[in-house]
Amino acid sequence: MTTSPAIEIAGLTKSYGDSTVLGGVDLTVPAGTVLALLGSNGAGKTTTVRILCTLLRADGGTATVNGYDVATQPAQVRGSISLTGQFAAVDELLTGRENLVLVAQLRHLPDPGRTADDLLARFDLTDAAGRRVSTWSGGMRRRLDIAMSLIGEPPVLFLDEPTTGLDPQSRLEVWATVRELAGRGTTVLLTTQYLDEAEHLADRIAVLHQGRIIAEGSLAELRQLLPPATVEYVEKQPSLEDVFLAIVGGDQQEGTQR
Ligand SMILES: Nc1ncnc2c1ncn2[C@@H]1O[C@H](COP(=O)(O)OP(=O)(O)OP(=O)(O)O)[C@@H](O)[C@H]1O
Ligand SMILES: [Mg+2]
Repeated sequence: MTTSPAIEIAGLTKSYGDSTVLGGVDLTVPAGTVLALLGSNGAGKTTTVRILCTLLRADGGTATVNGYDVATQPAQVRGSISLTGQFAAVDELLTGRENLVLVAQLRHLPDPGRTADDLLARFDLTDAAGRRVSTWSGGMRRRLDIAMSLIGEPPVLFLDEPTTGLDPQSRLEVWATVRELAGRGTTVLLTTQYLDEAEHLADRIAVLHQGRIIAEGSLAELRQLLPPATVEYVEKQPSLEDVFLAIVGGDQQEGTQR
């Protein structure tokens, strides 16, 4: 069985004045997979995402999302996607529940209240739901932002640095959400600075550098780009844990035996 790719980019270019940001990006994301787009600050990740979401026009090349051309079929593209941008797009003056109900209404869902309550429960936000978002922590806002982008279950989801600034617990929660979505067949393109995030979440990883995709593949495929691992002997300083166990662990055991 062959399914057409969810995202297909060919020769995409974009410049600002004299500076070329994208110099011919080629990338294919199969439907139902998670792709992590890696790149240094300023590499053009957000630019790429914005072009794919029809928020920005490319100078050249083509891109299709869910089979629709971003340049000539922007309305169909927008109907197929959802974007959680690099900076949270929640309304601080509304409560968490009101934010969700608003988006569900904008998407013309039959029962906005129930949609909101389901998502609040799924993201563990029910207790805070009635409080203004201005009183929420960064991690809670991020989860709400992602929850809002899931309303209407779009087939393709863009997450621009979904876990930047989150504490480890919130990061794990976002990871679990992405994995759950991928399990349901949603295609996810996420950008990240965290290599461990890409390792954990992505089926495939693409590296954007100097305007082009310089490497693309599964983690195992990318590892093969490096020479085989060599064994090195290094002098290892004891960690705090080693020191702790050495001074406490031994004593404790003696003490309990006495
Ligand atoms: N509207 C604009 N006008 C001029 N230059 C821009 C504009 N938007 C982006 N750029 C430049 O394009 C380059 C790519 O920016 P982009 O935001 O896509 O990078 P990024 O990979 O998302 O970086 P980060 O990791 O910091 O989010 C940067 O050099 C940026 O300064
Ligand atoms: Mg960015």
